[in-house]
Amino acid sequence: MANTAAVITVSDKGSVGERVDTGGPLVCQMLQEAGYEVVYTAIVPDEKDQIAGEIRKTADVLDVALCVTTGGTGFGPRDVTPEATIAVCERLCPGIPEAMRFESLKITNRAMLSRAQSGIRGATLVVNLPGSPKAIRESFSAVLPALEHGLLMLRGPKQDCAQS
Ligand code: MTE
Repeated sequence: MANTAAVITVSDKGSVGERVDTGGPLVCQMLQEAGYEVVYTAIVPDEKDQIAGEIRKTADVLDVALCVTTGGTGFGPRDVTPEATIAVCERLCPGIPEAMRFESLKITNRAMLSRAQSGIRGATLVVNLPGSPKAIRESFSAVLPALEHGLLMLRGPKQDCAQS
């Protein structure tokens, strides 16, 4: 059965309809092409409590396998997606953002300006992505293929981490 996913766009302007959300639909498309079933999408402003609330909902109520956020990872004073993610995750997964930045730095040195985090809440893996479609494509494609194995370890029957 396909893994389920939720996509949360974090954008002040997107949340009030002042900007068309292009990042969220791109993340949905990449997930669907990778075989995920996207069961929930939302757009929230750059407010830590609202972002945290949406992440909690995708884990505690919807129990999705993967919750992807896009936007709010930079240095702007209202960029708080990483802080909201850390606040609600029980375990952090630093390798995922490390891999995104490692691959993205080969393309642009600005990749170091994303403070994206990843973590686990319950049986849900949370991954932050930057907001621009270019950055989404470059960073998500670096980690998406490996996530399925992580989700199998997180949600599937107990098994060893053997390389196939
Ligand atoms: N990562 C990749 N792969 N490609 C990019 O162009 N842009 C960076 C960075 N990560 C970029 C990237 C820039 S310019 C910023 S400011 C940060 O992502 C944060 O983006 P966000 O605030 O939209 O989340």
